[in-house]
Amino acid sequence: MKIACISGSPNAGGNNEKMTDMVLEIVKERGYGTDRIFLSNLRVEPCTDCGTCKKSRDCPIDDDMKDIYKKLETSDAFIVSSPVFFGSLSAQLKALFDRTILLRRNGFLLKGKIGAAMAIGGSRNGGQEFTIQAIHSWMHIHGMVIVGDASHFGGIAVKPFESDKEGSKTVKDTANILCDTLSRLK
Ligand SMILES: Cc1cc2nc3c(=O)[nH]c(=O)nc-3n(C[C@H](O)[C@H](O)[C@H](O)COP(=O)(O)O)c2cc1C
Repeated sequence: MKIACISGSPNAGGNNEKMTDMVLEIVKERGYGTDRIFLSNLRVEPCTDCGTCKKSRDCPIDDDMKDIYKKLETSDAFIVSSPVFFGSLSAQLKALFDRTILLRRNGFLLKGKIGAAMAIGGSRNGGQEFTIQAIHSWMHIHGMVIVGDASHFGGIAVKPFESDKEGSKTVKDTANILCDTLSRLK
């Protein structure tokens, strides 16, 4: 079984990628395959609502979504991380989310997969919970099954991530609950 780890930050080597790297280590240790989708090095244009994917499983935008669609479709679970930008998720992650309407319109291909979310901000109470809710909305609308950190809503951290012990615990707990849930399905 495979877990796709998505970082929605535009910054290579930034806090979201550090948080996601922590998850990747845990998931690998627990014996799961992984896919790494780091939006800092991928080009994902926003959806234009052209309607092409209503008629066939095709998107006319030529960018990295082609490869991302395959990774999403072949994964059993997702852990999605976003920086808090003005109290919500990044534009880069929103662009990815909107483009996945192709998978919903062509057979609800993400339905039943397991999802978990993480958010990191510059302030302790900067909008992480709302950002996680926005990620959860994407998961719900695809029919995914959502897990948190078995205490609250998922990974919630403040930058710099490496100094945030409390936040790191929510990230580790979220990764472990995701693996526990997948192991029940094996
Ligand atoms: C445009 C912009 C808006 C931001 N808005 C918020 C915010 O509303 N709340 C907050 O806590 N941090 C905010 N931040 C800080 C980022 O969430 C923070 O720098 C985050 O850790 C970046 O993650 P990264 O290092 O992975 O890119 C904002 C940063 C930018 C660039």
